[in-house]
Amino acid sequence: MNATREVVRASALHGSLRVPGDKSASHRALMLSALASGPSTIEGLSPGRDVESTSAIIVQLGAERLNENDLVTLVGPEQGLKRSERDLDCGNSGTTMRLMAGVVSGVLGSHTLVGDSSLSKRPMDRVATPLNLMGATVKGQGDRNTAPLQVEGSQALRGIDYVVPVVSAQVKSAILLAALGAAGPTSVHEDVLTRTTTEDMFRLAGLSVHSLEEKGGGTVTVNPGRPRATKWRIPGDPSQAAYFAVLGAIHDCAVLEVLNVDSSPQRIGFVTVLQRMGAAVTMEPRDGGVSLLSQSSELVGAEINSSEIPSVDEVPILAVAAAAATGVSVFRDMAELRVKESDRFSGSIALAKSLGCRVWEEGDDFFVEGLGSARSFSTFALHASLDHRMVMAAAVAGCAGGGCTISGSDTVSSSYPNFFNDLASLS
Ligand code: S3P
Repeated sequence: MNATREVVRASALHGSLRVPGDKSASHRALMLSALASGPSTIEGLSPGRDVESTSAIIVQLGAERLNENDLVTLVGPEQGLKRSERDLDCGNSGTTMRLMAGVVSGVLGSHTLVGDSSLSKRPMDRVATPLNLMGATVKGQGDRNTAPLQVEGSQALRGIDYVVPVVSAQVKSAILLAALGAAGPTSVHEDVLTRTTTEDMFRLAGLSVHSLEEKGGGTVTVNPGRPRATKWRIPGDPSQAAYFAVLGAIHDCAVLEVLNVDSSPQRIGFVTVLQRMGAAVTMEPRDGGVSLLSQSSELVGAEINSSEIPSVDEVPILAVAAAAATGVSVFRDMAELRVKESDRFSGSIALAKSLGCRVWEEGDDFFVEGLGSARSFSTFALHASLDHRMVMAAAVAGCAGGGCTISGSDTVSSSYPNFFNDLASLS
């Protein structure tokens, strides 16, 4: 991952595009199809390397994959998944490692999950603890159980009642996937409701799921069962659409449209934040889906709490929006940013600073004093640190501002291999 990209300022941006299929739904479609018996089809699978990591692992465990144009057929083995002799390589993908830990907890035998240098620093204790309570044995390195992660699967898992101590869709999902093979129901409680992709897709696969929303949080209860083979249709990834939403809003001559974006409530908090900042960003029904429209706007600083954008994936790009706004923006309760593909807490601060903003932090909060316009951004350089979202946030800032140089830019292919071509197509 050592390519270097120069991004130049675009004089004007116009057009519409499709972003890749939602990454979260893509991982889950592959896993649920692999757990089912017989052929499932997946339309719109994300082409990113993270999803390829999940795909390669389920094939190692006995599923069969066939590609025909843009349609993927996935055949789950009738007898269920079987342990692989080889390591299960999750690459750069936290979703692969955490969700697959849940899947292989129910597959008899010993499994080794490995990842790249970024993934090998990320905490896996958050999945090890509940999966161990269910009767699997999950053990990594050191007290945060980092990868390589050893999982001893069991066919005698127990259902649990669990309160997730961090805000994490991956932890919820790892438990729910293991719960499919447990004896008795499993309930997972979250104080802040994260994306409901897993439970929504469980329902589509005929599984028994009960969700209760309460005071911002929720409890989901799943009964054991085998997913049925399903025809999956994956909508566009809202977290990728967010880059173009911000680009359209902060560029001084832009009208952009992103077609067919998933609009589920836990994923589009960034739209509400941008609207609060004064952005002309809207989501509108188009051609049977939902499109995101964005155009040049004058932004004002805002207060943003992590609970509005659970999983905080859109914070680096919102920090770029804050840098273009007039006044101070406050990002509150952002501790989870520190354990993403890179430390995005420091990364977002460094990015806003390199654009020329005054930025400061207090505990888990940080503050960005905007420059009033992206035209005032400095030209800057960024090292990607194996973090696709930092690459895309930097590229948007460079494209709307004064250009930039990004080293390690090819890590963008973790989620969006065609990102730079799509960006270029708008100018
Ligand atoms: C994901 C959950 C999020 C997010 C990631 C995808 C998922 O992480 O950052 O890109 O598909 O479940 P959390 O587990 O921190 O919510």
